[in-house]
Amino acid sequence: MSTEDVAAIAEELTLAEKVGLVHGATDADGTATGFVPGVERVGVPPVRLTDGPLGVRTDEPATAFPASPALAATFDTDLAERMGRALGREATARNQDVLLGPGTNLIRVPHCGRNFEYFSEDPVHSGAFAASVVDGIQSAGVVATPKHYVANNQETRRAEVSAEVDEPVLRELYLPAFRDAVEAGAGSVMSSYNRVNGTYVSEHERLLTEVLKGEWGFDGYVVSDWFGTESVVESVNAGLDLQMPGISASELLDSMGMSPDEEGDGDDASDTAAEANDEGDSAAADADDEAGSILDPDDGSDFVDGMPDPRSGGRYAEALVPAVERGDVPESRLDDMVTRILGSLDAVGHLDGVTESEPTGGGSSDDAGAIDTPEHRRLAVEIATRGTVLLKNDGVLPLADDADVAVIGPNVDEAVLGGGGSSEVTPFAQTAPREGIEARAEGAVSVARGLPRVEGVSLFDAMGEGGEDTADGGEADTADGSENADETAIDDGREPDVEGAVTAAAAADVAVVFVRDRATEAADRDSLRLPERQDKLIAAVADANDRTVVVANASGPIETPWLGDVAAVLAGWYPGQAHGEATAAVLYGDADPGGRLPVTFAPAEAYPTADERRFPGVDGEAAYDEGLLVGYRHFDAAGDEPTYPFGHGLSYAEFRYEDVEAVGPSTVEVTVANVADRAGREVVQAYVDSPDAPDERARPPRELAGFAAVELGPGESATVEIGLDERAFGRYDASHGWTVDAGPHVVSVGRSSRDRRGSATIER
Ligand code: BGC
Repeated sequence: MSTEDVAAIAEELTLAEKVGLVHGATDADGTATGFVPGVERVGVPPVRLTDGPLGVRTDEPATAFPASPALAATFDTDLAERMGRALGREATARNQDVLLGPGTNLIRVPHCGRNFEYFSEDPVHSGAFAASVVDGIQSAGVVATPKHYVANNQETRRAEVSAEVDEPVLRELYLPAFRDAVEAGAGSVMSSYNRVNGTYVSEHERLLTEVLKGEWGFDGYVVSDWFGTESVVESVNAGLDLQMPGISASELLDSMGMSPDEEGDGDDASDTAAEANDEGDSAAADADDEAGSILDPDDGSDFVDGMPDPRSGGRYAEALVPAVERGDVPESRLDDMVTRILGSLDAVGHLDGVTESEPTGGGSSDDAGAIDTPEHRRLAVEIATRGTVLLKNDGVLPLADDADVAVIGPNVDEAVLGGGGSSEVTPFAQTAPREGIEARAEGAVSVARGLPRVEGVSLFDAMGEGGEDTADGGEADTADGSENADETAIDDGREPDVEGAVTAAAAADVAVVFVRDRATEAADRDSLRLPERQDKLIAAVADANDRTVVVANASGPIETPWLGDVAAVLAGWYPGQAHGEATAAVLYGDADPGGRLPVTFAPAEAYPTADERRFPGVDGEAAYDEGLLVGYRHFDAAGDEPTYPFGHGLSYAEFRYEDVEAVGPSTVEVTVANVADRAGREVVQAYVDSPDAPDERARPPRELAGFAAVELGPGESATVEIGLDERAFGRYDASHGWTVDAGPHVVSVGRSSRDRRGSATIER
């Protein structure tokens, strides 16, 4: 359909019909995260939007893919494109038209509760993954929604905190991945809850209309985050196009099968504030007079600080028609909103002659999508395997096939599927760590949990009493759907205890200890230490067996106080449904550990965000005054040795780098030789050190400009070409925009931001 055809549909609509297309409504089927009824009279079918970045979240199972840092750790954008396509196909199979992902925020705060939904601390790296996932989703006939635009880098008070960040920093660090996602064809972008320099992003004309739509030429629609719309007239005129969920919190919880708290107080301070607002808020508040029901502020829940205002759900439904009639919102702006939404849907085939909802999900009607296919299962294994990072190896790995292994850890009977919140997915099948090792090992396998199960945290538990239905019809009581785990499990006839784990470790050739953190949307981790007594468990096991391997399944960086006592460490992130299978493949060397760190690992106090002004902020403001020195940029500038740098990851093979050469203004070449007697996969990284800038700003010593991976058999070598992103050469100048300073730009090539093996100079 042409742009004119889309405009012609919009022209036929009444004012009420137009407004009906720019906010959500209740989904009678209760399957969608967000629902727009469409306008049957003119052939616009209903639109269903679903979470999320790690798998499709409806009320039915779907493939639970590895979390975003695991995907990013692969440094393999082809895998990202394939995962995006699989997400799109699964969304279609579930009759969904729009996928609410990928999570595209930069990892600024190591404690951020949603880091498991984000890719990386580097903008070029994040952007490459966001773009590839978007490309995949859209190629499957589904609208992608990179989120949460922008500077949503923490969950603590996410609904009101103001990121105080200056323009060059925003341009160089926080905006680029969104721009890449837009350039890859994203049909939609989700605005974040937070404020940027005092203005809510949902009302930020500069960010929404001038930068995103104007400069970048984004012709899709901006959707609000759920309950993240602060006003009607201001947000619409600033550039917000679709309000979600468009209904009250109680209606939403109802449609999700959750029972709202019947005892809403209806007379709290927030209702008074709503009454004072003339933009339809008092009506919304009335409809929602159990405003406190989404979470009771008095119940001490960890999430209260991270929740948006539940009264804000129905604002456009209540007040947009009168606002247009009064002339506060020009009708041309409403037409723009409608054509943007219809245009994005049309681009994925949703308007192709469909007049009512079809089981195909509307989009590409020749393609019914696919879910839980062997291909998707294999892809989940491949990403989890390739994304596993070997941080340390004293030679204990890979394990001998016939080694006697003690499998230790409080959660060895469950796959770590993800963190809590809107990205929770219930898989059809999963392999627990214990199963993975038992299936692969040829030696004896003993199991000792060592500690009581470490429970994940779920936002949904806090929100309603109903819980979510799970694949087997049970109730998911944790973020990871781990109701499958046998909580009463005992080790050798006794309650799990550290002593039992020590005994098992001492009797085995190798002890493999699985540990995990717990992270969730709407709250930040309070520490980078492992929860419960897992650090103690590792120390005790390492004391009993010199050949102790730690597998850390975490949302981001963790502290490793036991590092010097263990023989090997794997960072396995949240690996999703393939946890056991993928980890076993790496442990036994069936796959080379292909992962490299997308975030720096260091003790909490070593990050710039250890200053509370920066995180979580003071008086509602988070000062981003570390400027450009985020992640490895900070550690490199400070000359501080992190525990493990960005880009780090060992292979079972060994590589030699030779002949780094610039072969053009934006390309370097290097010869990489595998000097080991086994095959391996090397991730070659290029960092640019630009000439000193004439401004005062502290600039990072070097910035990632590109990467490429190569698989080499024993003794093989290859010339690897790396394309360099122009942004790594440049800086954003407050008065001149993107500027490349003249002079020599030194391009270092190597294994990480710290392990650089050679360099070439490019004159600009
Ligand atoms: C999250 C979004 C999500 C939405 C719908 C919000 O709480 O921030 O990422 O897509 O809910 O579930």
